[in-house]
Amino acid sequence: MEVVIVPDAEAGGELIAEAMAQLLRHKPDALLGVATGSTPLPIYEALAAKVSAGAVDVSRARIAQLDEYVGLPTDHPESYRSVLRREVLEPLGLDMAAFMGPDGAAADVQAACAAYDKALAEAGGVDLQLLGIGTDGHIGFNEPCSSLASRTRIKTLTEQTRVDNARFFEGDIEQVPHHVITQGIGTILEARHLVLLATGEGKADAVAATVEGPVAAVCPASALQLHPHATVVVDEAAASKLK
Ligand code: F6R
Repeated sequence: MEVVIVPDAEAGGELIAEAMAQLLRHKPDALLGVATGSTPLPIYEALAAKVSAGAVDVSRARIAQLDEYVGLPTDHPESYRSVLRREVLEPLGLDMAAFMGPDGAAADVQAACAAYDKALAEAGGVDLQLLGIGTDGHIGFNEPCSSLASRTRIKTLTEQTRVDNARFFEGDIEQVPHHVITQGIGTILEARHLVLLATGEGKADAVAATVEGPVAAVCPASALQLHPHATVVVDEAAASKLK
């Protein structure tokens, strides 16, 4: 695992956007796995700026979703499909034909999970998977004690994650769904390059457990230690509890 400490979130966003741009220059139809939440926004902004400046052509890029709420209509503004359309696809000038994700509104959610794992494999696998990290060490929505070999499946959010995400639902935890579909940890580990960005002091404990703790299901992000090409980019605040 490679750990890169950057001064701030913007520097982390720029560094990772440049890694994505380099990948796309070499493989224009790369499959990019993307995360939602606040952390990756500087990455998406930096990548969109490179596109505007003509520094990279993303027109053939493909975008794969990491996780999705269950039970929200697909066009709900906070469904992760909607969020990714707004925050990633539109700024990059991509339409939904470039997008793949699990169907959180499916009648048979388990079948939708299996179908998504199959679709990812048939698409050739994820080339670069962006990850954020929860304050409890989750990646995607693999909460603590998720199996390190897990596949895409339905999960129940912890109270802490629902509290953390209430800010996207007018601060009202009652509106935050209880269930999600998430790529499993085993699924995530199949991506060719994992890039985790963590910023802010609130992530410092989770980052220390990820980088310096044992590989253990209690900290799902520690599974990155098992991956041959994992990069953890942290700002100084998130790095503050590293030894
Ligand atoms: C969401 C996801 C989550 C977030 C994590 C951190 O797609 O994968 O694991 O990355 O909850 O969220 P923020 O970045 O909002 O702190």
